[in-house]
Parts: sequence; structure tokens; C-alpha cells
Amino acid sequence: MTVILGIETSCDETAAAVVVDGRVMRSNVVSSQVELHAPYGGIFPEVASRAHIEHIYPVVQKALDDAAVTATDLDAIAATRGPGLAGSLTVGANMAKGLALAYNKPLVAVNHLEGHVYSLWLAGPEFYFMSGAADQPDQTPPIAFPVVVLIVSGGHTELLLMHDHGDYQRLGGTLDDAAGEAFDKVGRLLGLPYPGGPAVQRAAQSADPAAFDFPRVWLRGDQGERNFNFSFSGIKTAMLHTLQELIPGYQPDSPLPEDAPIADLAASFQQAVVDVLVAKTVRAAQDFDATEILVAGGVSANQLLRQQMVQQAERPVRVPPLPLCTDNAAMIAAAGHYRFMAGQRDDLNFDVVATWPLATPAA
Ligand code: KG4
Ligand code: ZN
Repeated sequence: MTVILGIETSCDETAAAVVVDGRVMRSNVVSSQVELHAPYGGIFPEVASRAHIEHIYPVVQKALDDAAVTATDLDAIAATRGPGLAGSLTVGANMAKGLALAYNKPLVAVNHLEGHVYSLWLAGPEFYFMSGAADQPDQTPPIAFPVVVLIVSGGHTELLLMHDHGDYQRLGGTLDDAAGEAFDKVGRLLGLPYPGGPAVQRAAQSADPAAFDFPRVWLRGDQGERNFNFSFSGIKTAMLHTLQELIPGYQPDSPLPEDAPIADLAASFQQAVVDVLVAKTVRAAQDFDATEILVAGGVSANQLLRQQMVQQAERPVRVPPLPLCTDNAAMIAAAGHYRFMAGQRDDLNFDVVATWPLATPAA
């Protein structure tokens, strides 16, 4: 049995969690900075680092307390090494190093993207949403490799073929904006609150997804039909142009008139993004004969994406329960468990990395 403390501070969430055997959450504490960054319409890195410094100690203490363990009981401490904001990552990494030094515990540095992948291995009362299978965690069959994994977050859109624990083949990823970034930017154009993803989903409810025809960028041609890359910057520009046509004198960040068709615009945008994400993921699963499809990251909270993936996948689809879609430390502890079991140990002098593709070892 392993008892692992996970620490996550790559972006704007200060998080700590205690996970047993990479699967059972004993605690999961997330302190969000959304309200701090909302006035800027995006994350302000310096503000983020300072907020992490203020919150890291109480968040870690609460994670230990909620789990009814002390640092002495831990088998290892796992912390996000990257990718993310260097100043933010450093706060969590230093907390993990301090604990590892003080309590003489092994330290495991985790890739944030791998953390999102391992959110699918966590179990709990409301877990696993699968097509054609039980939704009770104790009846949920274990994940059988190979699986196609779609990671969709504010910073990343990655399509991977996962052959085994820690064994990833990159099939493609975004060439420009991440899917979540597109939601955030379009949300801002539509005058919706930050972060844009949940706000766009809310605005799109019961609106017409065919009201506006936004581009679906397939990127076919350079690699024939099988192109598993994505591009979401064009759709943001298309939204800007549509708003400029609809609303005379429209400027980004200017208030929208009351009769602006925000709901239909949001629904049509959301549909275009989801169509591409689902089609490419399902195609990859067919081409590589994947047993299942796993979807993780903040955008995997999107209801349309979840529904459409399940409808079209022709194989089981797993998505995390909503609180584990966005950044958290339970997923870091879960990934840390598999790395720890594989023998990974990191030095107290490891540096954080702003960029760290999952399929490549960190330099
Ligand atoms: O994984 P995450 O918490 O942070 C990163 O690692 O980037 O993802 C945050 C992203 C944001 O872009 C947010 O707008 C998006 O996830 N998001 C959503 C939804 N909930 C969060 N996007 C679409 N629909 C949602 N329901
Ligand atoms: Zn994330």
C-alpha cells in the first residue's frame, strides 16, 4: 500500500491531496484563485505565485488533516514539476522539497499532463462515466491498454496513444490555441465572465448550435486523412468577425447590446469545437484499435463533449467526475504512485520546467 501526498501549483489552483494506492482519495483540497484573476480576464503570473505562497502551507496541512495522516505516515511526496508557470510551480516544488527533507521522504516530480491522465485512475463515490457499463466504482472494470487519451485544458490539447503506464505515443496536438484557451477567449469576446469554458457552456444551454456556421478545422492534406493535430485560433477570429458583422462598431471588451444573440453564438462555437475534438479522437481510437477512450483536463467537464464522445465512440469512454476535470492534486498523487512504483525518485535540487511534452523525458 502507498500513501502519497500530491502537491499541485502549476497554474492558478493551490492544491494538495492524499491518495492511497494511486486510486483512493483520502483528501483533496483545492484553493482556487479564479476570483483574483477574473478582473484581468486571464491569469496574472505574479499574482498567482504570491497567492500560492500564501495558501500552500494551510492547503497542505488541511490535506493531511482531512486524510487523518501526518507527514510521517507518507510513503512519498509527489509534486508537479511542469508544464506550467515557473513562478507558480516553484512554490509547490519547494513545499514538497521542504517536506521531503524534513521527514526524510522520497520525492517524485510529476508531469502535470500525466496528472490529468491519472485523474481517470482515481476512484470514489461519484466516479466514472462510461458508455454501456456500470457507473458504480466497485463495478467499474480496470482500464485496459491500449487507450486513446484526449487531454483538453486551458494550456493543452493533446491526443495520445497510451500503451501502458507511463508509455505514451503522441498522435497530435494543437498547433496554436488550446481548446480551453479558445473557450476562454471566445467567452471574453462574448462578454462572459472568466473562465470562459463554464460560462460558454451555461450561455449555450437550450440555444441553437446550428445558428452560426463556425469553421471546423480538420487540417487534412499534409498528412492525408490521418491528421490528429488541432487548430483553434481561427474559430476565435471567426467569432470576432461575426460579432463585428452583427454589431456595428463592436470592439473586443466593449459591452454587447442586450439583443446580441450570445446564446446562439456560444452554442454554435461550442458545437464546432466539440465536433472536431470528438471526430479526431474517435478516428484515432479506430485507427489504433484502442480499447477505450479517456478524456481529461478542464474542458472534459464540458457536457456536450462528454455526451457526444460517448455517443460516437463505439467503445467505453471515461471522463473524470467534474471536480477532477480541472486542476487538482489528487491526480498528481495518483500519477506519482505509478512513478513511485516504477522506481522514480527525484533529487532535492530538481528544477521546474515551463514546457514538458508528455511523450519526451524532461531534460
Ligand atoms: O485543466 P485546467 O483546470 O487547467 C489547465 O491545466 O489549463 O483547465 C482549465 C480550462 C479553462 O480553459 C476552462 O475554461 C476550461 O478548462 N473549462 C471548460 C469547462 N470547464 C472548464 N471548458 C469548456 N466547458 C466547461 N464546462
Ligand atoms: Zn491542468
